[in-house]
Amino acid sequence: MNLIERVRKAERLSSDIYLIRIESERISSSASAGQFVNIKCPGPEVYLRRPISICSIDRSEKTIDIVFQVRGKGTRLLSDIKAGDTLDILGPLGRGFTICPEHKNILVAGGGIGIFPLLQVLKDHPAERKTALLGFRNKSAVVMEDEFNKYSTDLKIATDDGSYGIQGFVTALLQNAISEDRPDMVYICGPAIMMEQCVKLLKEKDIPCEVSMEQRMGCGMGACLVCACKTRSGSDWDYSHVCKDGPVFSGDRIIFESE
Ligand SMILES: Cc1cc2nc3c(=O)[nH]c(=O)nc-3n(C[C@H](O)[C@H](O)[C@H](O)COP(=O)(O)OP(=O)(O)OC[C@H]3O[C@@H](n4cnc5c(N)ncnc54)[C@H](O)[C@@H]3O)c2cc1C
Ligand code: FES
Repeated sequence: MNLIERVRKAERLSSDIYLIRIESERISSSASAGQFVNIKCPGPEVYLRRPISICSIDRSEKTIDIVFQVRGKGTRLLSDIKAGDTLDILGPLGRGFTICPEHKNILVAGGGIGIFPLLQVLKDHPAERKTALLGFRNKSAVVMEDEFNKYSTDLKIATDDGSYGIQGFVTALLQNAISEDRPDMVYICGPAIMMEQCVKLLKEKDIPCEVSMEQRMGCGMGACLVCACKTRSGSDWDYSHVCKDGPVFSGDRIIFESE
């Protein structure tokens, strides 16, 4: 299979966050919200592919957007990509978010780089009410506000230091939102501690949710076992593969580190 795709646009969104728009009929025609792609970083230094969520799909333009933070060697190499370059991309991979057309009121809660896979949920979901709650470290870390505004009916932003939006964590926004109005479904992605606290809050109110897990990956296809995470299985527990069984799981299935 030809995995080489052309980059239509490459843009720096903030000091360390980059967007790459990739032309791919193969991926855009079959991808759904919450799935990811596994990218071969340019050059020989980085051997393993790097998993990045699909942030946005334009099915008519046959493109997908990925948005990523520079963390190490692989993402630094990706940040040098320019329009017209090509990338070797495997995907779409994994299990994405569940979109139930009967849900009329949905909420997405994202923290930091965890906001990216949530945009396509808002784009694809037919719900009448779509609330987006986004948390960032500070004002300079806030990205994609216009896009989330466009596809939600209500957007609230929190920053840890209060330099933009409401001061506090996204969990505080969630607590407020669910005390005023009960969503039919909540979609969550962010740091593990944030997801754990969101799941706990929602469990108390018996509101269903899905979380997108981030785990270091090797093969990205269920063959190497690098990406194992603990999940409930009846009254027992088991290991699941984030790459194949996830990255999206029902919130009540995940056994978080502190449990
Ligand atoms: C399903 C999935 C979807 C993802 N989607 C996005 C996305 O949309 N945008 C984005 O910015 N990032 C995303 N990530 C994280 C991204 O894959 C890592 O940041 C990237 O692989 C780091 O590669 P590197 O070579 O730059 O850094 P490395 O040199 O490999 O590592 C640098 C630092 O990042 C940490 N790290 C590396 N990989 C991971 C990981 N998978 N989880 C947690 N910590 C890690 C390392 O422990 C180290 O501290 C996703 C990860 C997964 C598993
Ligand atoms: S990354 Fe290899 S099994 Fe998941």
